Amino acid sequence: MRIDKTAVASDARIVEFNRLLDAPNFIRAIRDSGYVSLASAIAELIDNAIQADASVIDISVARDSSHALPTITVEDDGIGMDQHELGACLQFGGSSRFDSRRSIGRYGMGLPTASLSQARRVEVTTWQPASPTRTVSLDVDEIVSGEPALCVRETGDRGASMSGCRVTWIGCDRIEYRRLAWLDRALHRDLGQMFRRFLTTVTIVRINGKTVLPIDPLMLNTDVDGASAQLAFDPLQYEIDTGRGGTGVVTIRFSMLPVAEWHALDNATKRRIGVVGHGGVSILRAGREIARGWHLMGLKRKENYDDWWRCEIEFDPDLDEHFGITVNKQGVRPSVKLREALEPDLESIARLLNSRVRQAFEQVKFEAAVQRSCLIAAAADADLPVIRTSGRAQGALAYRFAARPLAGESMFELTLVQRLLDVTLNSDHAGFAALYRPLHDMGEAGAPLRTSLELLLLSFARSAITIGMSQSERRDLVQAWGATYGRMLQRV
Ligand SMILES: Nc1ncnc2c1ncn2[C@@H]1O[C@H](COP(=O)(O)OP(=O)(O)OP(=O)(O)O)[C@@H](O)[C@H]1O
Ligand SMILES: [Mg+2]
Repeated sequence: MRIDKTAVASDARIVEFNRLLDAPNFIRAIRDSGYVSLASAIAELIDNAIQADASVIDISVARDSSHALPTITVEDDGIGMDQHELGACLQFGGSSRFDSRRSIGRYGMGLPTASLSQARRVEVTTWQPASPTRTVSLDVDEIVSGEPALCVRETGDRGASMSGCRVTWIGCDRIEYRRLAWLDRALHRDLGQMFRRFLTTVTIVRINGKTVLPIDPLMLNTDVDGASAQLAFDPLQYEIDTGRGGTGVVTIRFSMLPVAEWHALDNATKRRIGVVGHGGVSILRAGREIARGWHLMGLKRKENYDDWWRCEIEFDPDLDEHFGITVNKQGVRPSVKLREALEPDLESIARLLNSRVRQAFEQVKFEAAVQRSCLIAAAADADLPVIRTSGRAQGALAYRFAARPLAGESMFELTLVQRLLDVTLNSDHAGFAALYRPLHDMGEAGAPLRTSLELLLLSFARSAITIGMSQSERRDLVQAWGATYGRMLQRV
């Protein structure tokens, strides 16, 4: 209906409102509201169901023969809506919790906007005990052709639960997956990560009957070959002024992946379990992930090593202004104040964890390189005079060669525990920088020389034990040798 401007001039608000919205154009434009994926649009419906205290949320994606385009249904067993709430739920700005900061929903935009971003028509059906099942719908083509919108009608098809809500997207013309199986996999992956906090407690989400499993980018519960990631520190907490007379809390956790145990996994496994492609920061608002990527790390740029540690930043909706939340709850735009409060710490922790990962990889490389010498020494041991040790195990000794900073002037330390002869190079000794590191850094080209040097040290250690030197005599000799060698090297 067109309103004659002069006839309603006394009610300026009506005139203004009609000027504000051109319904057919608005409805077409809002379809491009910028949901980055089907998962982030469906996430709006899961948000609503969680907030309605649903314990089971069933998503079905189907392409039936009569519809070339898929139909998506999200049904929950939450508290449902009364007639008034149902009438408002597809209004832009229609909300039973406008600007609330207690939980996820806030704007009254999620349901209609996310729905139209994917489908040409959305129907919302709800049921509660002792009241009829009712449905309201919004249809792009009907609005464009000027038909009335948002009429609530009574319908028969209520769900199996006492109360609940079903949202149906008909004519999903924005879905890019050619195969529903790919779409199914992507939904499990994305929704599993976005709702990980809820999926471990009270809520079950199913896609075509299959339960969505929580995916934790910190990988604290991912057990592969008996190892999983560990928290790098106790969680950090920051209390931030909301700017509205209160404070909100930001909680930050870091984890380190087990480099030694997982570095050799094949690429397909690394991708499958999420070692590659999931690095960086995951940001949770009210427990739901709204952003992932490289955020709040100051001047530190992301490098490959940074895939091996993870960061999770969690905040209350009270701090929405600081995180620069957008209506479709995807992504963050941190305020200057928030960046000043967090970035210096996060940047230095990022650099620290990057160097821990680098060291862990160096250690892995080192161990792989010295394994050859240890195997040669063990093979030769059978030809050497037998060494008797206490305990039952006899036969050839096993050898281990390592490097790390040691206190004192020794170039290395040697110990015999059970039947394992352990030689640890002092990486702080001048001899390490002068002799060992250059050979090590030459890689394959330096390998024969490095093996000879390692065998020189292993054979020295073996001989000290063969001739029966006590532990303290060995220590004195090694210390005197290391100090002497160090002093000589100073004059080179
Ligand atoms: N599954 C549901 N169960 C019960 N009520 C619902 C459900 N989904 C939507 N609603 C009602 O519809 C309203 C509109 O939902 P919508 O997602 O558009 O906005 P919101 O959740 O209030 O805010 P936001 O835009 O931040 O998501 C909600 O405020 C709620 O009253
Ligand atoms: Mg919502």
